[in-house]
Amino acid sequence: MKLGTPLSNSATRVMLLGCGELGKEVIIALQRLGVEVIGVDRYANAPGHQVAHRAHVVDMTDGAALRQIIEQEKPHLVVPEIEAIATDVLAEIEKEGLAEVIPTARATQLTMNREGIRRLVAEELELPTSKYGFADSLKQMKMAIDGGVGYPCLIKPVMSSSGKGQSMVRGADDVADAWDCAMSAGRVKGGRVIVESFVDFDFEITLLTVRALNSRGEIETHFCDPIGHLQKQGDYIESWQPQRMTPLALQRSQQIAKQVTSNLGGRGLFGVELFIKGDEVWFSEVSPRPHDTGMATMASQSQNEFELHARAILGLPVDTRLRSPGASAVIYGEMDKAGIAFEGVEQALQVPHSDVRLFGKLEAFQRRRMGVALASGDSVDEALSRAKQAASLVKPVVE
Ligand SMILES: Nc1ncnc2c1ncn2[C@@H]1O[C@H](COP(=O)(O)OP(=O)(O)OP(=O)(O)O)[C@@H](O)[C@H]1O
Ligand SMILES: [Mg+2]
Repeated sequence: MKLGTPLSNSATRVMLLGCGELGKEVIIALQRLGVEVIGVDRYANAPGHQVAHRAHVVDMTDGAALRQIIEQEKPHLVVPEIEAIATDVLAEIEKEGLAEVIPTARATQLTMNREGIRRLVAEELELPTSKYGFADSLKQMKMAIDGGVGYPCLIKPVMSSSGKGQSMVRGADDVADAWDCAMSAGRVKGGRVIVESFVDFDFEITLLTVRALNSRGEIETHFCDPIGHLQKQGDYIESWQPQRMTPLALQRSQQIAKQVTSNLGGRGLFGVELFIKGDEVWFSEVSPRPHDTGMATMASQSQNEFELHARAILGLPVDTRLRSPGASAVIYGEMDKAGIAFEGVEQALQVPHSDVRLFGKLEAFQRRRMGVALASGDSVDEALSRAKQAASLVKPVVE
């Protein structure tokens, strides 16, 4: 294992596919290890572009364009940060040995489509999930519901994220609207949906799971403490670590996470989303990359999720220990405008043990995540109330 000098012949080159706030933090972690980083996003000056050695604007769903930029830059590692990528090209790149895809091309293929990962986890690995079915039409959707999924249930486009096109169906009257909602928002037109029974959980967690090399050069699985979070309209608004849960639920969660991530393979950090009710655990979905709710680890762990990912993908050892309880609270744009400013950062930073990240997104939208407030505390309650207070003090303003 060698790390080179950036911008020289010995450079260790890593290409980030997606340069949002999560990619930006991964890039910063890589920069600290002297890695040469190439940032790719669909628009210029994305957050991660602003901290990479080189930046490219590429439509990553365009396979030919994606292949061209990989051939041009010759990265050692290709690190997807988003789901909407021409993953068939990643599979070719991996097969041809042009670059290593993190964690594996297959993991990116299976997780970009809810059907791939659900069938793997529920049917092959036989792990607990909500009841589900798939449908390509309103008629099939009704059949899936009547045929076993039942009410209440959730309808989601198979290719979508951040809650887009997702809706709850409480009874037969809601079915047509839910179909229309899914069709208006899926990533691919004419799309397919998953119908999922509603799980009446006590709380949901993200279990950050890291596959990294140990001193014998073998892959070992590490777990961070569970992260609790609150979701609204498909987006997380607060997260905290550790989420308290029963020893049995934790053990089951880790077992599920281990089985799923071992099957997906490769090195790196995964965000395993699970629903918990008492001792019972259901798998929901998995990101083969850092998770937005994991931003809390910037306040709670000695190595945050981005540092863990950077280390794991480079073949370095990781340490997932919790330093203290921590939390994150999202700062939204609150307006549709480019080039906004933020007031109150000085007040926010007066909150004890708090910190603020402003992502540097060029354009704000009402519900666009523009930054996050972080805090640690002696308890999760203390950390969370500090993070929420700090976030509420940061005010987006016109220029
Ligand atoms: N079957 C279910 N039962 C109960 N709640 C659910 C179910 N599926 C999803 N949810 C709720 O909706 C949220 C978003 O669902 P999911 O994670 O599948 O969508 P997503 O669009 O991928 O979101 P993201 O990309 O932000 O993780 C979950 O975190 C959970 O709060
Ligand atoms: Mg999710």
